[in-house]
Amino acid sequence: MHKRKKITVVGAGFVGSTCAHWAASKELGDVFLVDINEGTAKGKALDLFEASPVEGFDTRVVGTSNYEDAKDSDVVIITAGIPRKPGMSRDDLLATNAKIMKSVCEEIKRTSPQSVVIVVSNPLDAMAYVAYETLGFPRERVLGMAGILDSARFRSFVAEELNVSVKDIQAFVLGGHGDTMVPMPRHCSIGGVPMMEMMDKETIERLVERTRKGGAEIVGHLKTGSAYYAPSASAIEMTEAILKDQNRILPCAALLQGEYGVDGLFVGVLCHLGGKGLHKVVELKLNDEEKAGFEKTKEHVQVLVEKVKTLGL
Ligand code: NAI
Ligand code: 2OP
Repeated sequence: MHKRKKITVVGAGFVGSTCAHWAASKELGDVFLVDINEGTAKGKALDLFEASPVEGFDTRVVGTSNYEDAKDSDVVIITAGIPRKPGMSRDDLLATNAKIMKSVCEEIKRTSPQSVVIVVSNPLDAMAYVAYETLGFPRERVLGMAGILDSARFRSFVAEELNVSVKDIQAFVLGGHGDTMVPMPRHCSIGGVPMMEMMDKETIERLVERTRKGGAEIVGHLKTGSAYYAPSASAIEMTEAILKDQNRILPCAALLQGEYGVDGLFVGVLCHLGGKGLHKVVELKLNDEEKAGFEKTKEHVQVLVEKVKTLGL
């Protein structure tokens, strides 16, 4: 008998509940919204389920604080943690979110040991490392979401600048999820035409800079929290690629094992994603400027991981 897919979303806050919304409306599987605050999880899940007759999606949506209810999930998205406020960097969240990540992953390891885990909580690259260490899963089944979001921001800004459809913009961003991210305009295109032939250097640099600060731009407007529509859509793009074995090539944080000269750190790279999770890291030949950018981002992630190690979790 064909079994429905199960998706657990840990953290029923802004990002988590919006992930549940996209996942349910796309009928990717039954959705389990898990939060330490049971009322939040139950209330939002029930509300979303009650939208299903109107929207016509045929999906169970369950809210709970008990991981047993969500056991044997195929994909687990972790959004639990605190978000940043104006003036805070993603790195300021490190100690609090690392403890939360560890406790969540202990539960996932126990209840969904075969799942593919997608980490969203910040600081992303360090939290993916904590998740990997705690879960003890192979690297194929632990990924971080950031590159799709950063790339989507870049693609939106380019589309707006040129007044063309976002559908015709191909662009991606590599590196850590922070100010050291490495946009790759050399590999970006508009309707198949290289971006560098469609825009001058200054314009590209301006849009790259806006992309680097894309998260802070939203925090600056919201004041009480951070972005969630584009982040959750990005996490669900990864989820869909895995559940439907789509063989997508998407920028995600993956544990590098020698690729780009990095060993043992999560960094944003192009990933071949399918039913097993990470099928392969796609390694590009970088030019000198990109290499320097990648080196800087690697050092930044390394510093965060060293800080995690001093927490003695
Ligand atoms: P939020 O505050 O709205 O939601 C967080 C939820 O986590 C809350 O409902 C809280 O009760 C829950 N939680 C806290 N400790 C928990 C635990 N031990 N077990 C289960 N649930 C727990 O925050 P929001 O806006 O949803 O952001 C969530 C995280 O995602 C933040 O760390 C944020 O920085 C990060 N983020 C990462 C992005 C990325 O590109 N990787 C993009 C956007 C947000
Ligand atoms: C973002 O980039 C806060 O990481 C989050 O919006």
